[in-house]
Amino acid sequence: MKKILVLNGPNLNLLGERETQVYGKTTLNDIKTELNCLANELHAEIQFFQTNSESGLIDAIHNAKDTCDGIILNPAAFTHTSIALMDAIAAVKIPVIEVHLSNIHAREDFRHVSYPARACIGQISGFGKNSYTLALRALIDFLH
Ligand code: DQA
Repeated sequence: MKKILVLNGPNLNLLGERETQVYGKTTLNDIKTELNCLANELHAEIQFFQTNSESGLIDAIHNAKDTCDGIILNPAAFTHTSIALMDAIAAVKIPVIEVHLSNIHAREDFRHVSYPARACIGQISGFGKNSYTLALRALIDFLH
């Protein structure tokens, strides 16, 4: 049974009420429920975590190194600023897929850059909650 950490960055705790014209009405809890359902089907186990702090994300990545087989990461705004997150991903030997609800490449210029993506096996962006389910399928497939 593969263990996958699903890690969510700042402001994602407000999904469902935050900028719904961009992110939709789906809550983080809805995403967690759907992922747990899919994980069951794929014989995987999900650990789900959200933090608003950069250090919290980095610590979670470090901890996953010995406890998880892979990570699905939505770094939120830290995507566009955090070399430290990129370095944390590069430092652990487990595969990471970066996800975004919105298509960051179709938005403001400053969102076109992702530091963490440089250390990830791939990025899925623009499919709302399906970005997470697509990532889970891709990660489980990658691990087999
Ligand atoms: C986001 C995109 C980021 O640019 C933004 O800062 C977020 C959410 C997304 O899932 O679409 O907070 O990561």
